[in-house]
Amino acid sequence: MGQQKRIGILTSGGDCAGLNAAIRAVVHAAADSYGWEVFGIRQATHGLMVRPPEALHLTPEKIDPYLTTGGTMLGTTNKGNPFAFPMPDGSLCDRSQEIIEGYHLLGLEALIGIGGDGSLAILRRLAQQGGLNLVGIPKTIDNDVSVTECSIGFDTAVSVATEAVDRLQFTAASHSRVMVLEVMGRDAGHIAMCAGIAGGADIILIPEIPYTLDGICEHIKRRQQQGKNYCLIVVAEAVRTEAGDRCTVKDSEGCRLGGIGDYLAEAICVRSGAETRVTVLGHTQRGGIPSHLDRLIATCFGAAAVELIAKDKYDHVVTWQQRSVVAVPIEQAIANYSTVNPQGTLATTARRMGIFLGS
Ligand code: F6P
Repeated sequence: MGQQKRIGILTSGGDCAGLNAAIRAVVHAAADSYGWEVFGIRQATHGLMVRPPEALHLTPEKIDPYLTTGGTMLGTTNKGNPFAFPMPDGSLCDRSQEIIEGYHLLGLEALIGIGGDGSLAILRRLAQQGGLNLVGIPKTIDNDVSVTECSIGFDTAVSVATEAVDRLQFTAASHSRVMVLEVMGRDAGHIAMCAGIAGGADIILIPEIPYTLDGICEHIKRRQQQGKNYCLIVVAEAVRTEAGDRCTVKDSEGCRLGGIGDYLAEAICVRSGAETRVTVLGHTQRGGIPSHLDRLIATCFGAAAVELIAKDKYDHVVTWQQRSVVAVPIEQAIANYSTVNPQGTLATTARRMGIFLGS
């Protein structure tokens, strides 16, 4: 079995389906293959900031029931960058050293961080500052981490969005309406593009491809002339208004993306006279039972991350490339942001299917 090790695992950033499957894989691979102990850190790096550090001793028996569950059994946060941590008095404080101390207080020899590009960048900075042995696992429904073909959570999110398009087809047809479905994805249009094609949408709007309202209305009219009495539009949340403004919603912590669906529905109604309705899918895309693909990828990633630790290969992230797990330096994974290629296979296929993409 080799030398006994104690490793930590945390989930950071927005939750998604498949995180628990990845945690389970890490616990099994560590315990079953090497006899190592695994500690699950609560609420991302916050669990290492508090004293005593908040961590659960995870065993295969404890984690097994979570395989099919959504969310993260460790908790997470997408707020509170430890290098500029918001304090109760409104100031920002660098609390990175407390996290590094927390890692050592728990007696960890390695840390597996499951996160998107932002979280991986923060964890890497912490690792470099404190000499932590870090291995990353990519997760995000947005699928915008470069170098990996898919991240944990994306497939489930696309399934949820596709089901929504499927459901909207019937009600749209019954009422001869233009239905607008607003989906998540941050600055990338991957969810919108995949769900739109899979669900047979008529129009897909993504931040990577510009559009005009006239173009949309002409397409709706063309469809009507061809005998289709309704139209389904899938729009990614980061698509801008025709004037180039970002649609955001204010909340207690600032602004977040949202509102492009309402903008389009109103503008289309005014210009074309069509009856329009909007559905904003929101966080349903992050929740629910993980798809088989997310569980599969999460399991492969978790097991491979443990192997990297066994080989003392740190500062790497596991990625999915051509049906295999490939380790890539974290630096490379966070260097670029992956967006939809406007001339790539998916966009080309959509156009060939008569789907209007804007241009
Ligand atoms: O990054 C994942 C994501 O779901 C984005 O698609 C979305 O814009 C954002 O997080 C929503 O964040 P919050 O959970 O803070 O509302």
